[in-house]
Amino acid sequence: MTVYLDNNASTVLDERVLEAMRPYLAGPLWGNASSLHRHGRVMRSAVERAREQVARAVNAHPDQVIFTSGGTESNNLAVLGVAAAAPGPGRLLISAVEHASLREPAHALARRGWRVEEWPVDGEGRLRLDAVDPACGPAPALVSVMAANNENGVLQPVAEAAALWRPLGVPVHCDAAQALGKVPVDFGGWGVQLMTLSAHKLHGPQGVGALVVSQGAVLRPLLYGGRHERGLRPGTENVAGIVGFGAAAELAVAELAERAARMAALRERFEAGLRRLPGAVIFGDGAERLPNTVQFGLRGCHGETVLLQLDRAGIAVSSGSACHSGVNQPSHVLLAMGVAPELALTAVRVSFSPRNRAEDVDRLLAALAEITATRCAQETPA
Ligand SMILES: Cc1ncc(COP(=O)(O)O)c(C=O)c1O
Repeated sequence: MTVYLDNNASTVLDERVLEAMRPYLAGPLWGNASSLHRHGRVMRSAVERAREQVARAVNAHPDQVIFTSGGTESNNLAVLGVAAAAPGPGRLLISAVEHASLREPAHALARRGWRVEEWPVDGEGRLRLDAVDPACGPAPALVSVMAANNENGVLQPVAEAAALWRPLGVPVHCDAAQALGKVPVDFGGWGVQLMTLSAHKLHGPQGVGALVVSQGAVLRPLLYGGRHERGLRPGTENVAGIVGFGAAAELAVAELAERAARMAALRERFEAGLRRLPGAVIFGDGAERLPNTVQFGLRGCHGETVLLQLDRAGIAVSSGSACHSGVNQPSHVLLAMGVAPELALTAVRVSFSPRNRAEDVDRLLAALAEITATRCAQETPA
């Protein structure tokens, strides 16, 4: 049987979440949540209950939860929505390790004349709080700092970053797509104005997420149509998906301590074995990280080669590089940490779920030992 260790990419749907969704997928409940008749009211109450569940999971008010199609849309809405409400091209500050769904809309704004700056990280991937001075330069229209990095799992000091910008009234966005369900997430306590969430990272359905928006945040919608979701996200609600998101968020928070402990035990077992392999490097080793994530390299072994060899052995992981125009590029996250490009190209990401078992870790370690002992030294990077 395949060993699935790519849970930061997507997780299996929890059976309890599926049960919560089933009446809205296969009947007996259907309809449009905007309709005034009985069917519509039943849908509306399901959406509003899920809104409360999601809000509770991140310490927000239900009115602040805007349902979207997922993390990518939420990140785009945060960046492009705030920019659209700004008087003209201004300044944007994003951490150097943000997900592509945050970086790419920022880069699109740069092409339209915005000054997009990156907030640097240290060699362990942690935001360098001392590297920016809010008193210098024009106030950014938006600052964005993710809660946990999807590649190396490094946790960022979001509350401290937000506190730096609060006196200037600069809105701070936090992409918490990877954090929710693995570490506590605290919209109110962190003092951010916008927060991205995604259901399929926490055993919920794919294609649904949220942007949490504080009452004071000023942004425009990306789409125009009805008045759904406070006018920020028009379109008939994906009721089954939203119900699943609500159920998954509630379960993830109720079971957080137990899930985190199980994942941390797997991570520890894996890292102990990994350290015994020749040439192994763990990226962000010295930083506080998500309990489920290990990004590592085996010196001399190209990450994609390791991924494909593990796939042949029935183990699913992810590599750290992205393919652009047929050429593998080292991860921008590792480059921002000062990792040399040739070492960055060795990156492999393993991300556990609470459903993984110690045997999965042992199978992975055995496969990696074989890979290092035999083939990868002769492989040339793709
Ligand atoms: C940190 C982070 N933000 C955003 C996203 C995008 O989320 P979605 O897949 O729901 O579009 C991901 C997905 O990998 C992610 O890891």
